[in-house]
Amino acid sequence: MTATYHVKTFGCQMNVYDSERIGELLETEGYAAAGIDSADVVVLNTCHIREKAAEKVYSDIGRLRARPAVPRIVIAGCVAQAEGAEIIHRAPAVDVVVGPNAYHRLPALLRAGGKAMVDTDMPAVSKFEALPPRRAISGASAFLTVQEGCDKFCTFCVVPYTRGGEVSRPSVALIAEAAALIAAGAVELTLLGQNVNAYRDGDVTLAGLIRAIAALPGLARLRYLTSHPRDMGDDLIAVHRDVAQLMPYLHLPVQSGSDRLLRAMNRAHTRDSYLRTLDKLRIARPDVALSGDFIVGFPGETDADFAATVSIVREVGYAAAYSFKYSPRPGTPAAGMADHVPGPVKDARLAELQATIAGSALAFNRASVGKRCDILLDRAGRRQGQLIGKSPWLQSVFVVSPGASIGDMITVDLIDAQPNSLEGAPVPLTDPIRAAA
Ligand code: 5AD
Ligand code: SF4
Repeated sequence: MTATYHVKTFGCQMNVYDSERIGELLETEGYAAAGIDSADVVVLNTCHIREKAAEKVYSDIGRLRARPAVPRIVIAGCVAQAEGAEIIHRAPAVDVVVGPNAYHRLPALLRAGGKAMVDTDMPAVSKFEALPPRRAISGASAFLTVQEGCDKFCTFCVVPYTRGGEVSRPSVALIAEAAALIAAGAVELTLLGQNVNAYRDGDVTLAGLIRAIAALPGLARLRYLTSHPRDMGDDLIAVHRDVAQLMPYLHLPVQSGSDRLLRAMNRAHTRDSYLRTLDKLRIARPDVALSGDFIVGFPGETDADFAATVSIVREVGYAAAYSFKYSPRPGTPAAGMADHVPGPVKDARLAELQATIAGSALAFNRASVGKRCDILLDRAGRRQGQLIGKSPWLQSVFVVSPGASIGDMITVDLIDAQPNSLEGAPVPLTDPIRAAA
């Protein structure tokens, strides 16, 4: 009988990409995909960014251990890197712990068949060279990891410790992988990196890489994330003006609107320098949609600091944003700082910030009503016949369009707006405006 596997993903898009590659690797080894309740091997691809994310892993291990036929349990990703053998001490049901830079060796670890194997090396030799070529993708949108790791050391963040320093993949290999993904059916690519805009391979910056990938035939849409304000160079801003396939959307985390806190966070930008970067971007691409990440309740955050964060949300007019309560991470400088903010204060600030963000997103979506755009259909809606696709500005657009299916790009008129979605009406091919165009 064929052995089966299941990969469950926690955390960011980079883990989604790694999970796809782990799946491809196991299929090359002869494993077939199965559900989490029946698979022989279950890989939990974990996230360590906040305590809650890290703790979820242990409740999942508990559930797997309670299965009538206990699977072989593999812990991959950032918890694996950060906790290593500790995981097996705490959860002896775990068979293999494999870090984010070592998962190409997972088949060998599984073949060895033993218990309690840990591989969390951060080898200089890239895992990417050891992975099998890309196979068919699901849907029409694919991720492509171009850069990993972080040298920025924001004082709250574990990433520089778990993922190591910034490493960029060779541009030649990336252009080949992009071409393989397009040949497998991708019409949209999202270039990923913890600091994607720090990408550099010799003379090739992210701007150069985007220009090269956009020139591949068959690619309709290109996106990238996550960027650091410090690395938002003029050459990258210029591609937002020049490259038609680059979608008008930028995820540029600011974390706080208060310069005092930005300093304490070691962010290497100020409120003003961040806003000036956005001004330049809007000159290059006036319709650009912006999103960001925010932390509330960083140690020492006062009411005035928090008010500055709320005000920057209003000032920027984000199309979307993610906000988190500060979560102390072991080994990071902020965890040892004085004046931790009490839980109820964090809760209240998070609620206020999220309401402000929702207002900003609704205003952005309302301003889109009346526009005509293409959407790339990526999933089914809840109502009969309803599909959901992404606009160029990464909004979710609901549409009923008989004959269309997931993976199609269709043209819609945006006719109604909610905080998290829009409604679209399909534009028939015989539409007079289109016919005239
Ligand atoms: N606590 C809360 N949020 C955090 N982030 C990173 N580290 C922490 C932490 N210790 C947030 C930041 C980052 C996003 C991916 O997660 O906003 O941009
Ligand atoms: Fe973490 Fe800051 Fe690096 Fe982003 S830039 S991964 S928040 S240390």
